[in-house]
Amino acid sequence: MRAVDIIIKKRDKQELTAHEIEWFIQGYTSGEIPDYQAAAWAMTVLLNGMSDDETTALTLAMARSGEMLDLSGAVEIAVDKHSTGGVGDKTTLVVAPLVAACGLPVGKMSGRGLGFSGGTLDKLESICGFRADLTTEQFLRQMADIGVVVCGQTADLAPADGKLYALRDVTGTVQSIPLIASSIMSKKIAAGAQAIVLDVKVGCGAFMKTLPEAEQLARLMVEIARKTGRKAVAYLSDMNQPLGKAVGNALELREAIDTLQCRGPKDFEEHCLEIASRMMVVGKQSPSMDKACLTVEQTLRNGQAWEKFLAWIAAQGGDVQMVIDPQKLPTSAIQRQILAPQTGYLHQVHAEKVGLAAVLLGAGRAKKGDPIDYGVGIEVLGKVGQMVQKGEPLFIVHANDEQTLHQAQEMLLEAIVIKENPVEPLPHFYGVIE
Ligand code: URA
Repeated sequence: MRAVDIIIKKRDKQELTAHEIEWFIQGYTSGEIPDYQAAAWAMTVLLNGMSDDETTALTLAMARSGEMLDLSGAVEIAVDKHSTGGVGDKTTLVVAPLVAACGLPVGKMSGRGLGFSGGTLDKLESICGFRADLTTEQFLRQMADIGVVVCGQTADLAPADGKLYALRDVTGTVQSIPLIASSIMSKKIAAGAQAIVLDVKVGCGAFMKTLPEAEQLARLMVEIARKTGRKAVAYLSDMNQPLGKAVGNALELREAIDTLQCRGPKDFEEHCLEIASRMMVVGKQSPSMDKACLTVEQTLRNGQAWEKFLAWIAAQGGDVQMVIDPQKLPTSAIQRQILAPQTGYLHQVHAEKVGLAAVLLGAGRAKKGDPIDYGVGIEVLGKVGQMVQKGEPLFIVHANDEQTLHQAQEMLLEAIVIKENPVEPLPHFYGVIE
């Protein structure tokens, strides 16, 4: 077999066999197939698409390119959740201990923020001492002992995806639905998930800007799960405006702590309760969503989820005093309100612009490996549909210098649209695909 023939076959819109895909991915992982051929191939996939069978074969080939975790010794059924990424999305920080406190262990590998979208590990690392680089053995032990563990992906988990993703990032080939679906699902399968709740974000602050695109991605991932003997349920959730009120690492961690203590923003709490309940159903801990919702809500209200959160942070070396007293978490030197320039209804709080303003303040990275500032970020006080008065605060910017504060302020004023006519609030969810 020759790599060039596989590229030509896809260029000519023919379907690749599972064997050809496996061979190509193995060759690329081992270094026998160079980056330029893999880049050409990724571009043919972006332009010509892939059938569901091809995408499933690609998913499995990438999952098998490294270590495949077997969680059966640690848990009865391994349940995972995955968000496609957005602005203010701190759901894992609440849902992981909440579901674990309901008796269903959660072991999750998470990522760091890139571009306007934040990452769970960065938020957790606002806590002094928190360790995200666990070995497989530590991961399995903590999952069995505490029932909850969240760490970074080991280098040996789906290495083909790691290599291909970095290449796609610099060759204009990220925005391909089969490549995104196989990238996400290969990591979930390699990490041992048997049941997965997918949170596919849609809107201006997400990878998928439109509902049809998001729906296509969600359906494809659910189908890959089915074809590989797993179960997945996908939510289509709004990411036109930030989720909750906090954007920025320590700010988001504080909001997660508030939510675990039942004083978080309503939209974010509802989001967490829904995702957690669905995990209970796919993890066979609850026979129905109604029963799961009751259990999950009770576990949040009676403080057991909060207790589990403390045990989890302590198990990964985090300074528990910082979460018991969140004033000890990193803060910024300057906090400045941004006021509504006019009276009216909020028609837009553009999630991507808010995310980019947070990155500019130092909460995110322009490129992989850049340092981040845990204390900076934005509190988003207004939601679409809300009536605001001229002079009322819409945002609180947390910054460490006047120059970036000023630039962020301008971006945030561009992120909002206020009009005289009323507008409906945005929905949390646009649908569920089972
Ligand atoms: N997230 C991933 O893990 N892979 C993609 O290709 C896009 C988003």
